[in-house]
Amino acid sequence: MDRFRVRVVAGVLVLALVATPIRAISYQCDHYEGEQYNLRYCALFGVAIVHDAEDVDFLSEYPRPYRFEFFQSNLTEIPRSLFTVFPEMQSIDMSGTGIENINKFTFENAKQLQNLFLRENLLTTLNNFIFKGCDRLAWLDLSHNRLRELKEKAFYDIPTVHTLDLSYNQLATLPRGVFSTMEKLSAVYLSHNRLTALRDSTFAANPLLSLDLNYNRIAYINTGLLSSTLSLTTLNLRGNALQSITLPRTPKNIDLAENNLTTILIEPDPYAVVWLNLSTNALTSIVNVSVLSNLRTLDVSFNSLNSLPLTTFLSLKALNTLNLEATNLTALEHGIFSQQSNLHWLDVSFNRLHSFDLSVLTAASSLERLHLDGNDLADIEYRWISELFPSLNYLGLFANRWNCSYLLELIRYCRQKSISVAPAKEYGTVLHMTNVQGIYCLGSSSGAKLPTVDPVQHWDGTKASLESQSNSDPKPDAISTEQLLQMIRAMNQTTLERMRQMDVLPPAPDSGSCTAMHAYNYQIFILLILSIILIINIGFLLWVQHNANARRAVDQMIVFRREHGGSISTELHGDF
Ligand SMILES: *[C@@H]1O[C@H](CO)[C@@H](O)[C@H](O)[C@H]1NC(C)=O
Ligand SMILES: *[C@@H]1O[C@H](CO)[C@@H](O)[C@H](O)[C@H]1NC(C)=O
Ligand SMILES: *[C@@H]1O[C@H](CO)[C@@H](O)[C@H](O)[C@H]1NC(C)=O
Ligand SMILES: *[C@@H]1O[C@H](CO)[C@@H](O)[C@H](O)[C@H]1NC(C)=O
Ligand SMILES: *[C@@H]1O[C@H](CO)[C@@H](O)[C@H](O)[C@H]1NC(C)=O
Ligand SMILES: *[C@@H]1O[C@H](CO)[C@@H](O)[C@H](O)[C@H]1NC(C)=O
Ligand SMILES: *[C@@H]1O[C@H](CO)[C@@H](O)[C@H](O)[C@H]1NC(C)=O
Repeated sequence: MDRFRVRVVAGVLVLALVATPIRAISYQCDHYEGEQYNLRYCALFGVAIVHDAEDVDFLSEYPRPYRFEFFQSNLTEIPRSLFTVFPEMQSIDMSGTGIENINKFTFENAKQLQNLFLRENLLTTLNNFIFKGCDRLAWLDLSHNRLRELKEKAFYDIPTVHTLDLSYNQLATLPRGVFSTMEKLSAVYLSHNRLTALRDSTFAANPLLSLDLNYNRIAYINTGLLSSTLSLTTLNLRGNALQSITLPRTPKNIDLAENNLTTILIEPDPYAVVWLNLSTNALTSIVNVSVLSNLRTLDVSFNSLNSLPLTTFLSLKALNTLNLEATNLTALEHGIFSQQSNLHWLDVSFNRLHSFDLSVLTAASSLERLHLDGNDLADIEYRWISELFPSLNYLGLFANRWNCSYLLELIRYCRQKSISVAPAKEYGTVLHMTNVQGIYCLGSSSGAKLPTVDPVQHWDGTKASLESQSNSDPKPDAISTEQLLQMIRAMNQTTLERMRQMDVLPPAPDSGSCTAMHAYNYQIFILLILSIILIINIGFLLWVQHNANARRAVDQMIVFRREHGGSISTELHGDF
């Protein structure tokens, strides 16, 4: 009885021993990075892990690759063994591999890891302490996941991270102190989430330079939130639900476009802001912006300002780019741009200007672009344009009330002075209208009417491309040698067939006409040339393959073995 049991146990043991190596799947590094062969790079293709990462093994022909990328893989979780097998790993890209979950202790041995890219996965929650072990992590990309929840201590163990990308997730709140240990954190991307509010202390511990909160649902920003982050240079709050904001003093670039702002509150202290976007809000006055004397770019387009006080731009002497598009202005008073000697770009398109006196811009002698489209202009005193603005290279004239003979003169003048007049945006074309170079004008026939053209608010080129990016298919692979051979074979085949057809066909045109004969010879000649090219191609291919083989042979002379327990040693000492 006992003996029987022993035998059974032994049998089970043997079975287990036999079974184990069969179950383990190993994946080998591919060291080609596109065309480049790189010993320190490892691409892993078609790795599949379904809830049991223990049975997977990774191998490299060369020791110590440090940069890893996964392609066409399906990982429900991150295989821990990677970090024991390759302890020198510094960067790993597991984007788009279907990761649902990060387990505790996953990164226990990722001691050298600096860049971790986990974009476009299926993560929903980050638990406490999951990054424990990543003692050198600097860049963490978790964008384009489905994160709804961050546990308070999820980032607790990675104080070295300087860039954290959490954009394109579904976060509605951030737990208290979630970034409180990240004392190097300088860039945080939280755009395209569902945040409605942020605690004052959220970034109190971080030396932030850049904070991106675009396209959330934030309705209110406390002054306390940003008062502690004195190093902040870029603040993006585009596409939120702000109605009022106290402008923070330290950032140089502030994007507040596409909110619902009616009020901008300014503190008495000096401001650093040089770039301010207030486009597409509900502002009726920008009088408070008038004190931001360092401004170089100001965009207040798509707000119903209706009129501008003469003093609006008096202190904005550095102003270089000014967008007043679609602000419902009826007039620009003389003197309003008296201090704008640095102005290069002025957009007053889609207002209700009946006249535009160019002398209002006399101070702006370095003006390069002037957009006057979409107003009610019938004429401008253009004869001095190039004297007043010697650098002018663009004049937007689209959708005004020009009569055609006048417009023709104007455009002729512009061409002489090398000033471009082509409409700057796609306003939709109505080509049956009388026009000069795509700019509508009133012909001589009485009762002619001009079309109404609406301003084009946004190009939305960036948004569209971002969206298409997120839906895009995985990159097509480079054509392999095998495929290339296949293609040549196919081409060979058709060439052969064509030749055979030629043989079957009546050999020479019977009509005997000289040109036909000529054409036939010509065809043969081309076929010959094609064949020669083909043969050269094949020769080249064989040569390339021969070389590759030789190289591989040399490579393999560098012998190394993987020690049990994971780390790699080599008989070739010295660094790669
Ligand atoms: C990944 O694996 C899961 C579960 O086996 C499967 O449902 C899914 O279709 C796989 N995805 C890909 C891209 O292979
Ligand atoms: C903008 O604010 C007004 C009140 O000031 C409110 O009625 C409106 O619904 C808001 N619009 C959006 C899109 O939040
Ligand atoms: C300008 O600032 C004052 C207080 O400083 C505030 O009462 C007012 O509403 C602000 N106006 C606008 C249009 O932002
Ligand atoms: C534009 O200004 C006119 C008056 O000059 C006013 O009647 C109209 O309501 C304004 N439009 C908007 C959108 O504020
Ligand atoms: C076109 O406008 C110019 C100046 O505004 C005027 O002299 C000319 O008579 C106009 N021509 C027609 C056909 O209305
Ligand atoms: C300001 O924001 C608007 C709306 O998003 C955008 O169309 C515009 O290009 C921005 N202005 C600048 C100067 O970037
Ligand atoms: C192409 O055809 C020639 C014969 O015309 C043959 O010798 C050669 O091996 C073929 N090449 C391939 C790649 O099939």
